[in-house]
Amino acid sequence: MSTARGADYLDQPPTFSPDVPGRARVAAESRARVTIFVAGMARWSMWRSPVTLPLSWIEERTTSGVRCSSSMPVVKQAFSESSSIVRPFTEIPGLWKNGVVNLYNFWKLDGFRNLHRIMLQNFNTFGPIYREKIGYYESVNIINPEDAAILFKAEGHYPKRLKVEAWTAYRDYRNRKYGVLLKNGEDWRSNRVILNKEVISPKVQENFVPLLDEVGQDFVARVHKKIKRSGQNKWTTDLSQELFKYALESVSSVLYGERLGLLLDYIDPEAQHFIDCITLMFKTTSPMLYIPPGLLRQIGAKVWRDHVAAWDGIFSQADRCIHNIYRQLRQDTGAPKKYPGVLASLLMLDKLSIEDIKASVTELMAGGVDTTSITLLWTLYELARHPNLQEELRAEVAAARAESQGDTLEMLKRIPLVKGALKETLRLHPVAVSLQRYLAEDIVIQNYHIPAGTLVQLGLYAMGRDPKVFFRPEQYQPSRWLRTETHYFRSLGFGFGPRQCLGRRIAETEMQLFLIHMLENFRVEKQRHVEVQSTFELILLPDKPIILTLKPLKTSR
Ligand code: HEM
Repeated sequence: MSTARGADYLDQPPTFSPDVPGRARVAAESRARVTIFVAGMARWSMWRSPVTLPLSWIEERTTSGVRCSSSMPVVKQAFSESSSIVRPFTEIPGLWKNGVVNLYNFWKLDGFRNLHRIMLQNFNTFGPIYREKIGYYESVNIINPEDAAILFKAEGHYPKRLKVEAWTAYRDYRNRKYGVLLKNGEDWRSNRVILNKEVISPKVQENFVPLLDEVGQDFVARVHKKIKRSGQNKWTTDLSQELFKYALESVSSVLYGERLGLLLDYIDPEAQHFIDCITLMFKTTSPMLYIPPGLLRQIGAKVWRDHVAAWDGIFSQADRCIHNIYRQLRQDTGAPKKYPGVLASLLMLDKLSIEDIKASVTELMAGGVDTTSITLLWTLYELARHPNLQEELRAEVAAARAESQGDTLEMLKRIPLVKGALKETLRLHPVAVSLQRYLAEDIVIQNYHIPAGTLVQLGLYAMGRDPKVFFRPEQYQPSRWLRTETHYFRSLGFGFGPRQCLGRRIAETEMQLFLIHMLENFRVEKQRHVEVQSTFELILLPDKPIILTLKPLKTSR
């Protein structure tokens, strides 16, 4: 992999702001202490006041003070103070003096499930940068795209995210190797370089397309069957379980080059167990972000026991799939006739140890289910809420189909609005509430010095709803991504740079093909007057079932 940032082959902002404040400005800090003291007093009164607003309050106001849909919380304002003086780290506003008290308040606000709304509220209270400490977890939080550029420039040669202690604690407890998701330093880089070639480079997409296209067609056939069985020429349901199966079937077919058969009437109970384990794994992770898992393990807490059971289930299913392919490969001596999947390609390449391959393939399998399925569910929900837009997308797909004359890869190049819809979904309903990096060097953001080693979080959910960043952020408008307005550090749903989502290529292809097939076959509608909000379970999920109605465009087969 070229570790050059800007990921040449991906849709990322290629350059950085030339005027990135550096260490020289940090040095000015000590000369400016007197002025800082005065400015700091103003800040003091702001951050001393506790955050007591009920969460419902945040959701009912927009910048203009006009009430809007309660599912559309937005950032109200930013406190910008123009000053060129660099202020010390200790003056960053926020609640960071007493982690235990903050943890208690966080728990009272049901913060485990409302983290994204609390972050948004904190930006409204403190401005575009704030510091916080909840339990043992301390960070600086930022929201502006220009500040994101500074952050990513300082991520260093080995970018490091927030360590999810619960996940590493499980690996250590069971004596399992870390995969690329959890590795750091040179070990991460050397693995990631090899995995990039097989999982995310542009040339592998042509291998994935036929596999994923077939899964998409099977999903459509399954929906037609359900419609026929309903006898009502429509199917009204909560699609989440179906989408989990679709996502696992898709990612497995790419990883193993084989189908699991999850879209058939009878499904392997072990595969269903795997899906349930992933949901449980995410659900039990968020409480352990703030309380050390080691402590929970010692007291035998249920959350830790459930977490272990979830990962055990994930690993045993992945182990089964990996062993199958490994066995087949040893028996099969001839060169493969068709693309054999990511796992077999990695084994044949023989550049990573089998244990490293197993660890990363398991993580790819676990990371490939809830992420894409929930994004697709939100997208269908938005299309159901915007019928005219749905027709526009359908027209785009029809034109692309006609122009590409059966070449699916070509077709994927002709659907900018569909791609815009997926970006728009990730803006309003990002899978990850924030992106995080430990700084490799000192930086200055919003005139505050932040020392190397600090954990800085970019609030993706909050940025997506900030009217200073997005015009009318509360509106779902895929076409905003086609216009010439700046996209500089704004489309970050998959993260950024060399540490960005490894599964991005699979996810994007899988989701685009899904939408193509669904738009060609069904009209999506939703129940009236049901607004869905989100809840944080490490990833963002709908807080209630999304009930959709699928109607065939032509009479069901
Ligand atoms: C809509 C779908 C998805 C979204 C929005 C998403 C988002 C993300 C984000 C935000 C990160 C962190 C990036 C960073 O820190 O810069 C990440 C990392 C990762 N994702 Fe995804 N993801 C998606 C689907 C997938 C899929 C389908 C897979 C597997 C096939 C996957 C595997 C991974 C892995 C392995 C990492 C860790 C990479 C590393 O640390 O080097 N993701 N993803």
